[in-house]
Amino acid sequence: MIIKHYEQEIIRAKSVRGYAKKQTQRKIDHYKFIDLFAGIGGFRLGFESNYSKCIFTSEWDKYSQKTYQANFDSDIFGDINELDANELEDFHILLGGFPCQPFSKIGLREGFKHKTQGNLFFNIVEILSKKKPVSFVLENVTGLLTHKTNGDSTIDLMAEVLSELGYEVNIGTLNASDFGLPQIRRRVFLVGFNKKYFSEPTNFKFPKKIRKIKYINEILEKGIEGYGITKHLQNTYMFKKNDRKPFIVDETSKKFATTLVSSYHKIQRLTGTFVRDGSTGLRLLTENECKELMGYPRNFIFPVSRTQMYRQLGNAVAVPVVKKLSVEVYRVLDKVFKVK
Ligand SMILES: C[S@@+](CC[C@H](N)C(=O)[O-])C[C@H]1O[C@@H](n2cnc3c(N)ncnc32)[C@H](O)[C@@H]1O
Repeated sequence: MIIKHYEQEIIRAKSVRGYAKKQTQRKIDHYKFIDLFAGIGGFRLGFESNYSKCIFTSEWDKYSQKTYQANFDSDIFGDINELDANELEDFHILLGGFPCQPFSKIGLREGFKHKTQGNLFFNIVEILSKKKPVSFVLENVTGLLTHKTNGDSTIDLMAEVLSELGYEVNIGTLNASDFGLPQIRRRVFLVGFNKKYFSEPTNFKFPKKIRKIKYINEILEKGIEGYGITKHLQNTYMFKKNDRKPFIVDETSKKFATTLVSSYHKIQRLTGTFVRDGSTGLRLLTENECKELMGYPRNFIFPVSRTQMYRQLGNAVAVPVVKKLSVEVYRVLDKVFKVK
């Protein structure tokens, strides 16, 4: 049974099962985490520090692997379906932004029934059940919150499954614009703690929004060439009559960009953000601007095509959001572990 508590977009789901009685502080060298559905390593950028390290990465897309390897010195395991969880070294945290297509509002909304991807949540469940790490952090699109599986709330089903495994499950929605990024990007996070390690409820809190607000006009580059949208495309497609208009910004726009999506390169006229600039009068966001939208460092390398760069960043987690989240997760883990 799940107890629900709705507070500032945060749902907490906790099993009614009792918590372990004993709590001891164990000395460790590092917090070890695994990075599943790793994409370009957004979760890793947020969770890695000098007291934590990534010990395993899984990502099957060859272009994402290329970007990941250009930025992190790591071997990458491919298809998670091929993984034997028993072979994994022990770790403390499982991180995974599992593929969102089955739950996305624009996607097929087939959830668990999705032929190739609906079951990936259960790959996570299998690893949790075999390895029983202290914690997990999962990420998905907010469409998951309203998605139904055979009439039942999919997220409640997930929380129930995770709860059954012995985890306290916390569910919350975080928006990148609340964490100093000039982009509206709401994502749902499931944060779990293995009750075996805690003598009482963890009192985990999702990070609070920061004071600093950044708008899109603050990150626009000047003198950009090569990102222009042709006049022809503008006339025949971008500005169709009797239709909603695309979201266009310039250096005066004290606004947040719309969510960067993986198909941005297709010039999604009604969902993308475009810049009034350049020789044709309108252009796409540049690589550096997209990095700023997502909180990736300027020196993050994309050794792939521009299409892949948009796709990879559009699929990624916003780094400052997961960085703040990591602080809260480590705060809970510190109650049990002491990093030497
Ligand atoms: C929503 S993205 C996660 C992005 C990541 N959080 C980041 O910051 O870049 C989901 C990722 O799961 C990967 N994926 C999908 N199915 C997979 C599988 N069977 N094995 C390994 N990776 C898979 C996709 O290629 C995609 O990169």
